[in-house]
Amino acid sequence: DGEVYKYYADGEWKKCSSGKTVAIVNPTTRKTQYKVQACSQEEVNKVMDLAKSAQKSWAKTPLWKRAELLHKAAAILKEHKAPIAECLVKEIAKPAKDAVTEVVRSGDLISYCAEEGVRILGEGKFLVSDSFPGNERTKYCLTSKIPLGVILAIPPFNYPVNLAVSKIAPALIAGNSIVLKPPTQGAVSALHMVHCFHLAGFPKGLINCVTGKGSEIGDFLTMHPGVNCISFTGGDTGISISKKAGMIPLQMELGGKDACIVLEDADLDLVAANIIKGGFSYSGQRCTAVKVVLVMESVADALVEKVNAKVAKLTVGPPEDNCDITPVVSESSSNYIEGLVLDAKEKGATFCQEYKREGNLIWPLLLDNVRPDMRIAWEEPFGPVLPVIRISSVEEGIHHCNASNFGLQGCVFTKDVNKAIMISDAMETGTVQINSAPARGPDHFPFQGIKDSGIGSQGITNSINMMTKVKTTVINLP
Ligand code: G3H
Repeated sequence: DGEVYKYYADGEWKKCSSGKTVAIVNPTTRKTQYKVQACSQEEVNKVMDLAKSAQKSWAKTPLWKRAELLHKAAAILKEHKAPIAECLVKEIAKPAKDAVTEVVRSGDLISYCAEEGVRILGEGKFLVSDSFPGNERTKYCLTSKIPLGVILAIPPFNYPVNLAVSKIAPALIAGNSIVLKPPTQGAVSALHMVHCFHLAGFPKGLINCVTGKGSEIGDFLTMHPGVNCISFTGGDTGISISKKAGMIPLQMELGGKDACIVLEDADLDLVAANIIKGGFSYSGQRCTAVKVVLVMESVADALVEKVNAKVAKLTVGPPEDNCDITPVVSESSSNYIEGLVLDAKEKGATFCQEYKREGNLIWPLLLDNVRPDMRIAWEEPFGPVLPVIRISSVEEGIHHCNASNFGLQGCVFTKDVNKAIMISDAMETGTVQINSAPARGPDHFPFQGIKDSGIGSQGITNSINMMTKVKTTVINLP
C-alpha cells in the first residue's frame, strides 16, 4: 500500500503530528507507490524559524567551506544515482536511463555551482566618488554580494531532483538556507536527494524539505513572511504565486510552446532527428519540448514523411524497460492531452498515426495540417503529441510564434546563418536555438522565459547572482 517517507527538518527525519499522508501514484501501475507526510501550517512555521536561524551562521561560514560541502554532496548524490533513479522511474515514469542521467547531471550542476560561486562571490567592486559631477575623491565605495536569507524552492514533477538542485546549490553557495517543497510526484526522489545533502554534513536546519498538500500548505508557504525569495518551476500556478508573494525576488519558469521553424533550405534529416528528440523525449513532458512545428509548405511533405518514419521506431511501454514513450504523469494529464487530440480531430487535423491510449500511456502522435483555430496550436499538451502547422512565409511562422502567450525557447532550422539570426532577433522568446532543438542545458547557460513563461533568468551564474543582494560600505574621507 506504499512505503511512508518522513519529511526533513532540523537535520532530522520527522513524521507530521497529524499522522496524515499524501499518496504518490505510480503513473505506470496507477497504484499507490509511496506515501509522504502531509505537513501542517504549524510544521511549516517551525521549519521557517529553523531555516532563518541556520542561515545566520551559514552566511558567516567561509565560502570555501560552503563549496567543500557542496562538492561532497555532489559526490554522494552521484554514488546514490541508482536508488534515486529507481524512485524517478516509479514516481514520474521517467525512462530508467534518463533517470540516471538526471541524477548525474544534478551532481555536476552542484559541483559547477560550487566552483562558479567561489569565483563570483569572491569578488567585489571598489568605486571612487569623483567620477560623478560635483564630487571630490573623498568617498570610497566597497561592494559585495550578500545572501537574501531563506529561499523557498519549488521544483516541478518532470525534474524533481535536477530542478531542485538547480535552486538549492546556488542558494547554498551564496549563503542562503533552503525550504524545499517538492512536487507530490517526485517527492520521494527529492527526499533521497536531500538525504545526500544530509550525509554530506550540512548544518542542521539549513536545508529543509516539507511535503504535503498544495491546498493546505501551498499558499501558506509562498505567502509566508519568513521567505526571502521564491524559485519556482512549474505550470501556471506560478502566475498566481507571483500575484500573492510579498516584496521578494522571484525566479520562475512556467512552461512554453516552443516553436520549431523549418525553412526551405534546412537539412531535413537533422530537423527530423531534432523533432523526435525535442518533441518526444520524456514523452514531451519538458517545458523546453518542441511543441509546434512551423514548416514551409514546400518541404512539409518531405519533413512529415521523415518524422513519421522515426515516430514508427519509437518504443512505447514501461519506464523500467527504457522505452522512449512512457506513461504520462497522471490520469488528469492524460485526459487533458486527449482533450486536445479530440479537439484537433473534430476540427480536421491530419492524424499521421492512429490515436491510441492505455491508462496513462499515450502513443506518439504527429498531427499535420493543424490550423490556428485548434487548441493544440496554442496549448501545451505536455505529452507525446506534436502539431505541425504548414506556413507559406517565414513571417507567418514568426507571427505564430509571437502570438503565443508563452515565450520560453524556439528553434530555427536553415543553412543561412544570417537569416537564422534575423529570425532569432524577431522571435519573442528567452532563447532561440539555431539548428538544434530547444534545451535548458548546458546548465551554466542563461535560461529564461518571457511573457507567461517566467520571470528572471536561471542558469548557474544567473541563479547565484539572483540569490544575493548587493551590500555597499562607503568610506568617507576627511
Ligand atoms: O521542463 C523544464 C526544464 O527546465 C527543461 O530542461 O531542457 O534540460 O529538458 P531540459
